[in-house]
Amino acid sequence: MPFSKDFLWGGATAANQCEGGYNLGGRGLANVDVVPHGKDRFPIITGEMKHLDFDDEHYYPAKEAIDMYHHWKEDLALFAEMGFKTYRMSLAWTRIFPKGDEKEPNEEGLKFYEEIFKECQRLGIEPLVTITHFDCPIHLIEEYGGWRNRKMVEFYENLARTIFTRFKGLVHYWLTFNEINMLLHAPFMGAGIVFEEGENKEQTKYLAAHHELLASAIATKIAHEIDPENKIGCMLAAGEYYPFDCHPDNVLEAQKQNRDNLFFIDVQSRGKYPNYLLKKLERESIELPIKEGDLEILAENTVDFISFSYYSSRVAKAKDEAADKSAGNIFESVTNPYLEASEWGWQIDPKGLRITMNTAYDRYQKPLFVVENGLGAVDTPDSDGFVADDYRIAYLAAHIEEMKKAVEIDGVELLGYTTWGCIDLVSAGTGEMSKRYGFIYVDRDDFGKGTLKRTPKKSFNWYKKVIASNGEDL
Ligand code: BG6
Repeated sequence: MPFSKDFLWGGATAANQCEGGYNLGGRGLANVDVVPHGKDRFPIITGEMKHLDFDDEHYYPAKEAIDMYHHWKEDLALFAEMGFKTYRMSLAWTRIFPKGDEKEPNEEGLKFYEEIFKECQRLGIEPLVTITHFDCPIHLIEEYGGWRNRKMVEFYENLARTIFTRFKGLVHYWLTFNEINMLLHAPFMGAGIVFEEGENKEQTKYLAAHHELLASAIATKIAHEIDPENKIGCMLAAGEYYPFDCHPDNVLEAQKQNRDNLFFIDVQSRGKYPNYLLKKLERESIELPIKEGDLEILAENTVDFISFSYYSSRVAKAKDEAADKSAGNIFESVTNPYLEASEWGWQIDPKGLRITMNTAYDRYQKPLFVVENGLGAVDTPDSDGFVADDYRIAYLAAHIEEMKKAVEIDGVELLGYTTWGCIDLVSAGTGEMSKRYGFIYVDRDDFGKGTLKRTPKKSFNWYKKVIASNGEDL
């Protein structure tokens, strides 16, 4: 059997995409709340358009999302029914520190999560908690400019210390930043950054990157001090870049593009900035804001495991002006002619998961955790509200099959697998509800209409069987 008996099967969500209750329980406003559905979403999430409040022209899907704020007990019960061993979720920073720079936390916010974790414990589900999944308090953006400011490290440290202390014994698996490399591609989501006129954008992004990496290492240190049982992971938006063909220029280009993302994990896992990155920054006259003691903190506090999301592989071409491009979670890629694509144009490559796992394991020699994988698709319920999502089952089965090979044939150490959006939720990229990933259908449309009723899809029973058989029965 490739998977150990403790293998952590489960599903993943993020607070901003499912919780809603944006103004309840003393919660403050966050960047993710003010990101609308529609054509302005992209310029806003990439930090090109300043939009820090609500207006009447847009619809804001995160405000209520799927209202997990009021439905969490029912949702956890459904996850337990599928046999989840783990549930990956994130904390809304502004539920705990509404503005972000307070000294004392909001008790109501802490209580909210504490109850969720206690219920998980009762159900035998191990929480896997992302400390920040694209969220940043609006106050920290307005007052300090987001992660371009070193003060953010302090605020994050306060958040981390608060949650590690309060949830000691209830949570053992933590991820410091969701898809940390996303800050280079969607800086408003990844780092609360809105670019100013004439600003050197690249410099700002690497400034923020250093601050997040430092914050991540400090959180790792505190987590280990507070509870040696804590396991901390980094989290990368992964997907191997393949060279377009064997032309050496394309091979080099693929290596370069892989490194542009992997450097984050190199720092978090190996504890130092790799030479290739330092050389690149030197060439581009970008300075990292390294202060005395920073490098020691990075070196001494590396992560325990490597987690990542995987939706697709990518393709790199040195001279790609004329190349056909395919969509993906913000990452642009040359189209791979050998692969099919989802309705949203994301190419489907199960073998790429095995390849990506092997690269990560070879490079870091630490256990891996696949914390996101799934198919965003349009689901059409029948007259009884049932969705026969065979396409989703096929996608997941093919990926699990390859993941199994990575473990069984290649010997990769793997802690677990959580599918993305185990219950339908708001898409991070587009703000749509109609881009569904779940085993559970939620009656809600792209503009907030619907009863919010939860209905298991065909994949619900399929995944239950997968978990019960520890991945044998696909
Ligand atoms: C990852 C994010 O990039 O991809 C999730 O961590 C996101 O938050 C997921 O939802 C799928 O992307 P999308 O755009 O289809 O929601």
